[in-house]
Amino acid sequence: MNQPRATVEARGITVEFARGRKQPPFRALDSVDLDARPGEVTCLLGPNGSGKTTLMNVLTGLLAPTTGSLRVLGLDPASQRRELLRRIALVPQETSLYPELTARENLVFHARYYVMPAREQRARIEETLELVQLGSRASDRAGTFSGGMQRRLALGKALMMKPELLLLDEPTLGVDVQSREAIWTRIEEVAHEGRAVLLTTNYMEEAQRLGDHITIIDRGANIVRGSLTELTSQVPETKRAEVPPVSLQDVFLHFTGSGLRN
Ligand SMILES: Nc1ncnc2c1ncn2[C@@H]1O[C@H](COP(=O)(O)OP(=O)(O)OP(=O)(O)O)[C@@H](O)[C@H]1O
Ligand SMILES: [Mg+2]
Repeated sequence: MNQPRATVEARGITVEFARGRKQPPFRALDSVDLDARPGEVTCLLGPNGSGKTTLMNVLTGLLAPTTGSLRVLGLDPASQRRELLRRIALVPQETSLYPELTARENLVFHARYYVMPAREQRARIEETLELVQLGSRASDRAGTFSGGMQRRLALGKALMMKPELLLLDEPTLGVDVQSREAIWTRIEEVAHEGRAVLLTTNYMEEAQRLGDHITIIDRGANIVRGSLTELTSQVPETKRAEVPPVSLQDVFLHFTGSGLRN
């Protein structure tokens, strides 16, 4: 059977940021490869500063790579950004909401902006408010919410849509355990609906739970890529802290010689 066409196909992505005079540029990404496929959750796992957000910015056309080739939904993000943004849903690392609008109004605005069919709007918005556990706060202004509540509302905006590609930069950072479980389940459903999901995380547990495919990066470079089984099978038994299951922590330790630095 043919593999479905990759939704994201990034090869040899290098990003350099200019620094002050007489300083060499800073290489934030060094020849990184990444794929995301329909029906799968792909997790990009790496510690702080490893280049996850930089790669997301490249995939959404916010940042042009210094070198490398890239296709997202068959498009070139740098030159076809408008069309791309219409077809993806994105939750950036920094939460963006309208603080003066209520939780429900934020979702209504988003639904209309992305032209969700009117007959579906009401039900999907109410479902989403329940999903992110903000049903009882739906009429309160988003600006009055705690950090974790704002994060949940921002996630709700993306999870409510039916994009071909869902991009989530550290989706559950600052989200409590109860809400996290519901969000994880919804992310799995999105993939089961045949969409591609690509998320960044520095939580091993999140990658282990969700990742059909896991790419580990450190200091801007690919460390290893594959399914959880493929990754863990590469760790010799003597190096495994947990038997079974072998954890991603073991994989990370094996390939980098250090733990996931945060
Ligand atoms: N605009 C920029 N100019 C210069 N350096 C940058 C810029 N953006 C990112 N960097 C550097 O690139 C590296 C990767 O940053 P990035 O934000 O991609 O990391 P990250 O993996 O998303 O980290 P975190 O887990 O903290 O979100 C860091 O060393 C950062 O300082
Ligand atoms: Mg980041």
